[in-house]
Amino acid sequence: MNKPQIILGIETSCDETAAAVVQKSGNRVKVLSNVVASSAALQAKYGGVIPEQAAREQIKSIIPVIQEALVQSNLYPPSSKHHLPSSIIHPPAIDAIAVTNGPGLIGSLLVGVETAKTLAMVWNKPLIPVNHLLGHFYANWVSTADNSDTLTHRPTDTPNFPCLGLLISGGHTDLVLFKDHGKYEYLGGTRDDAAGECFDKCARLLSLPYPGGPEISKLATRGDASKFDLPRPMIDSKDFDFSFSGLKTAVANLLKGNNGALRSNEPTIRDLAASIEQAIIDVLITKTLKAAQKYKVNQIIVAGGVAANQKLVSNFQFQILNFKLKTKFFVPPPQLCTDNAAMIAAAALFNYHPTDPLTLQANPNLSL
Ligand code: KG4
Ligand code: ZN
Repeated sequence: MNKPQIILGIETSCDETAAAVVQKSGNRVKVLSNVVASSAALQAKYGGVIPEQAAREQIKSIIPVIQEALVQSNLYPPSSKHHLPSSIIHPPAIDAIAVTNGPGLIGSLLVGVETAKTLAMVWNKPLIPVNHLLGHFYANWVSTADNSDTLTHRPTDTPNFPCLGLLISGGHTDLVLFKDHGKYEYLGGTRDDAAGECFDKCARLLSLPYPGGPEISKLATRGDASKFDLPRPMIDSKDFDFSFSGLKTAVANLLKGNNGALRSNEPTIRDLAASIEQAIIDVLITKTLKAAQKYKVNQIIVAGGVAANQKLVSNFQFQILNFKLKTKFFVPPPQLCTDNAAMIAAAALFNYHPTDPLTLQANPNLSL
């Protein structure tokens, strides 16, 4: 069978409904379309994701989002632009469909998985299940049309193996040693809260909206990170595990002190935001560079929503320069760090393992 060149990706693991069409271009992946509808603004009203509500939003968005991705990629007959039934008669010029089958919220996952299974059967296309966590790393193989490579100072080539992967998302903080596509060793991960979860929980303590990472990072740009001496949990531990719940507790205790006077002082909140951000960044960078040294890897790939944090990116680059390390550092542009379907389709291009659409199941607890 010919190697697939064009894949439609579908991602619905949490509160983003995403579809993308990508094309293999040498060792890189070109994005033909990348559509994301997020219910985060709705979830923000409740301070976090409500699973049932997220699933209902997925159902509303899934067909329009897939349709939009196909239209934008120019793979659709123009006459069928707004009528899905005619696209079923004329399957788009894709080679396969990739879908996130876990981990995530079961209600949300089911919407993407069942839609992908149906389309795969109706269009007679191979179906490739993709682990969402692995998918995040593949954003590092995606080239963007807007040349944001130069804006984010990324190398314009793709990672080589072996490389060390740091996944920092809302639910995961993992260090993984990649030996090849699909061949990896798990080195360590968080024992409690993930880095993104810590950002979100601290933001909540500061009465900031969900998701908290971007909010803390915005405030932090005008704050002084040296004003609060917050803990850097497990920064010196010999293993590659993480723990962020102690940092969150330290912030909660600080806010409880002084009869809550801290909360109402805006400059102090900015300093606290900067101190939280710096504490998380210090732990992530120290442990990643230690792992790179131990496993003699000179390529690092970072992925997941927290990788959209520009302070983290500049601190990583600074440390690599400062210690004169020969480490090549890869991080996707911010829009590919948070949940999207281009990364899912890209992962499928390099890990092409079609499955039977009739038996594919969503697995909310899938691990790396
Ligand atoms: O990967 P992702 O979009 O979804 C999951 O798979 O979990 O990650 C979401 C996480 C949230 O915790 C959010 O607060 C965090 O990524 N995040 C950030 C930034 N943008 C998103 N954290 C820090 N700084 C940011 N700029
Ligand atoms: Zn994610």
